[in-house]
Amino acid sequence: GIVRHYKFNVVMRNATRLCASKPIVTVNGRFPGPTLYAREGDNVLVKVVNHVQVNVSIHWHGIRQLRTGWYDGPAYITQCPIQPGQSFIYNFTITGQRGTLLWHAHINWLRATVHGAIVILPKRGVPYPFPTPYKEVVVVLGEWWKSDTEAVINEAMKSGLAPNVSDAHTINGHPGPVTNCSRTNVFTLHVESGKTYLLRIINAALNEELFFKIAGHQLTIVEVDAVYTKPFKTDTIVVAPGQTTNALLTADQSSGKYMVAASPFMDTMVVAVDNKTAIATLHYSGTLANSPTKLVTPPPRNATAIANKFTDSLKSLNSKKYPAKVPLTINHKLYFSVGLGVIPCPTCIPANGSRVVADINNVTFVMPTTALLQAHYFNIKGVFTTDFPANPPNTFNYTGSGPANLGTTNGTKVYRLKYDDTVELVLQDTGIIAPENHPLHLHGFNFFVVGKGLGNYNPRSDPKSFNLVDPIERNTVSVPSGGWVAIRFRADNPGVWFMHCHLEVHTTWGLKMAFLVDNGKGPKESVIPPPSDLPKC
Ligand code: C2O
Repeated sequence: GIVRHYKFNVVMRNATRLCASKPIVTVNGRFPGPTLYAREGDNVLVKVVNHVQVNVSIHWHGIRQLRTGWYDGPAYITQCPIQPGQSFIYNFTITGQRGTLLWHAHINWLRATVHGAIVILPKRGVPYPFPTPYKEVVVVLGEWWKSDTEAVINEAMKSGLAPNVSDAHTINGHPGPVTNCSRTNVFTLHVESGKTYLLRIINAALNEELFFKIAGHQLTIVEVDAVYTKPFKTDTIVVAPGQTTNALLTADQSSGKYMVAASPFMDTMVVAVDNKTAIATLHYSGTLANSPTKLVTPPPRNATAIANKFTDSLKSLNSKKYPAKVPLTINHKLYFSVGLGVIPCPTCIPANGSRVVADINNVTFVMPTTALLQAHYFNIKGVFTTDFPANPPNTFNYTGSGPANLGTTNGTKVYRLKYDDTVELVLQDTGIIAPENHPLHLHGFNFFVVGKGLGNYNPRSDPKSFNLVDPIERNTVSVPSGGWVAIRFRADNPGVWFMHCHLEVHTTWGLKMAFLVDNGKGPKESVIPPPSDLPKC
């Protein structure tokens, strides 16, 4: 590999959407931010310079960061944030990964406008395991608020209520012709008849899983989360925040304009109903400007069957060259309940003295003020405890109408693993307020999604149906609403690794925890020493 240098200047800029302007935090003045290109094996150096008045940190979502946890990015987990006027050089090597990922700010709700694509090409001379596309196109899906997003969440935390939903969804920064105010604010994908395109689709939205669909065209899925899949055809994709999907699009019509739709998927209504669709245009070369656009109907927002059909079709490619290395023997069997609940909050107005909180295994995670990785590496006491439970202390029926008592306690707890431990983790939706989908993201690892089901996980019968041959490998998985998902991974990366719901509002409410993978003795088993420019808290 080679060394690639990038400079990310974090700067304010004014942006106008939906007939309203506001100042937003950006990288290099762009929304979405610049695409980071590299090849597998390259060493990437990104100098991030903070020119704004708020703290910043950048996460390279899905990059394994083998032994380089200092550069992972989540504020107060692996680093202190980059303060105004300061800079930090992220320095990592891309090992054993190729495909599409994303980078995003990892502090408060800054991710709303501070995000962009990571495109990792295979090593020079190594072909894709699918026909070489004529062109590649990055498609970043996002959300747009007319008001300041930090104000939106701060207001919600004061009131105890759910925050407002966004005012629009976006495709490469554009809502499309969804209101009179955005008629001309449309992303156009130009294609030539007969050619095949690789769409690198990224969900960078804060709080919405999204369907993606193109009128009159099928898509062939070839990769998710920078892992090759067995190719399959579909007309609808579902992608959760933090997930990526590579799809081949063959422009098999002769001409015309076709609607592209990104619309919310949410199967219950814990937060307000959000039916807003972002619209782009697929435009064949040679099509007359005034020719009508062929329309597509997005799935209804509660189209769980359509979403399941898509996710259940995902399988690892598992070829000779790209084998699925599923751990077959397990040292840690973990069962984590994930969900939302309500606790008393006398100061919350007007939520009747209560507030929404979230937890994993009855622990509502409290962000520390010293980064966990520093605390671990320098043995600073009192920052975290290692008593994160392997099972939820409060057992109850996790689905249907369970007790309203969340039984959660606040804590900065981590679960400790040894280097190279093998882990099976069942994530169970509790559905205390209502069942809801939670896209859980694990930093530092890919995992295999070996099983999934509705209702309560049964440790005796459910493992019999696990797929240990070609399960999909990824870094973010949706815990099904009112159900469970089982994942397996090998703890072959020393450090402190965040795991959280990638719906930002749930993370804010506390749906997060961290794994501590112990520094061992050998060189492969320890995190590298911290860099000298590592930000201080
Ligand atoms: Cu993409 Cu911790 O996040």
